[in-house]
Amino acid sequence: MKLQELFGIELPIIQAPMAGAQGSALAVAASSAGALGSLPCAMLGPDAMRAELTAIRAQSRKPFNVNFFCHVPPTADAAREAAWRAVLSPYFRQYGIDAAAIPAGPGRTPFNAQAADLLEEFKPAVVSFHFGLPSAGLLLRVRAWGSKILSSATTLEEARWLEAQGVDAIIAQGVEAGGHRGHFLSDDLSAQLGIFALLPQVARQVKVPVIAAGGIADARGVAAAMALGAAGVQVGTAYLLCPEAITSAAHRAALKSEAARHTALTNLFTGRPARGIVNRLMRELGPMSSAAPAFPLASAAIAPLRAKAESQGSGDFSPLWSGQNASGCKEIPAAQLTRELAARL
Ligand SMILES: Cc1cc2nc3c(=O)[nH]c(=O)nc-3n(C[C@H](O)[C@H](O)[C@H](O)COP(=O)(O)O)c2cc1C
Repeated sequence: MKLQELFGIELPIIQAPMAGAQGSALAVAASSAGALGSLPCAMLGPDAMRAELTAIRAQSRKPFNVNFFCHVPPTADAAREAAWRAVLSPYFRQYGIDAAAIPAGPGRTPFNAQAADLLEEFKPAVVSFHFGLPSAGLLLRVRAWGSKILSSATTLEEARWLEAQGVDAIIAQGVEAGGHRGHFLSDDLSAQLGIFALLPQVARQVKVPVIAAGGIADARGVAAAMALGAAGVQVGTAYLLCPEAITSAAHRAALKSEAARHTALTNLFTGRPARGIVNRLMRELGPMSSAAPAFPLASAAIAPLRAKAESQGSGDFSPLWSGQNASGCKEIPAAQLTRELAARL
C-alpha cells in the first residue's frame, strides 16, 4: 500500500521527529504542505505533551505522527556517575560549576502507561518509536485506538524483527542520519549500514512499506531513495534551520558553518550513540567514551556545562545533532522546504 494511503497524507515525506529541536510548530508547518509532521515526546513531561498535542489539534486537521523513545530505563550506578563526573571535572573547574550540586536526572522518559493514557485522548494517525518497540501490552493499546505504528530499523535483522511484531511500516535508518541511532538488537556499531546499502536489502526482505532516513536533504535525494525501493522518506537535519524549529542559536550557527561537514557518532551527551557535529567535548574526550553512564543518564552532568557554554554563545558542550548531509539546511519556512523536497516526485 502507498504510504500516502496508509497515513492519509499527500506526500510520501515524514518530517522526522527531533526531540529538543522542534515541537508542534514544525509539525503543523510540515503537515500543512502535505507531509506527515511529527511531534517528538522523548523530552516532554505530561503537561508539555498535552500542551503540544492540543496546539497541533487547534491548528491542523491533518494527520500527524507522535514519537517516543522506548528504552528500558537503567538502574542508577553511583560509581559510574562519580567516574563520569571525574572525567568532566576539568570542565566543571573551568566554568566554576560545583559538581556535587548537579542533580542526577533521567532526562528522557520512555513510552509508558501514563503517556498512553494521554495519547489515547488524541488518537494520532501515526505513532513512531525509536529503540525498538514498547511492551506488547502498550503496543496493543496504541493499535486498538487505530494509530498506525512505525519504528526504526538500522539492520536487516531489526527490520525483520519489527515486521514480525506487526508494525505498519519500517523506517530504515542509515548510519548517515542525525541524532540517536535507533539500533536495539545489537550494540555493535560496525553492523550499522549506510542508507544505500540498508534500504534496498530491507525493501527486498520485508512486505511492509519502508521509509528511508539518513542523509536525504533535497529533491534528488528523495528521488534516489524512492528509486531504491523506499515507499517514502523521513527527513530530519534539513528542517533544523527552519524558523518553526526551536534549534538553539549555537546549534544553528554550527549547522551553517564549515564544522557541519564533520559529524561523528558520540555517546557523550546521553550515553547512547547519536550523530552530531564534532565539537570541543567530542574532540577532547573522543566521540565515544566508556566512562559515560548508560542512556539517558550521561546527560545530567553535561547539562550545566552546556548551559554555561551556550550562555556565552558556545556550542562546545551541546549535542549538535546533525546528519552527515547538512547541505539541505535552509532558513526557509518548513512548508516551502517540504515542497522543495517533493519537487521530483
Ligand atoms: C536534531 C535531531 C533530533 C532527533 N531526535 C529524534 C527523536 O526524538 N526521535 C526519533 O525517532 N528520531 C530522532 N532523530 C533521528 C531522525 O528520526 C532521523 O532518523 C534522522 O533525522 C534522519 O537523518 P537526517 O538527519 O540525515 O535527515 C533526530 C535527528 C536529529 C537531527
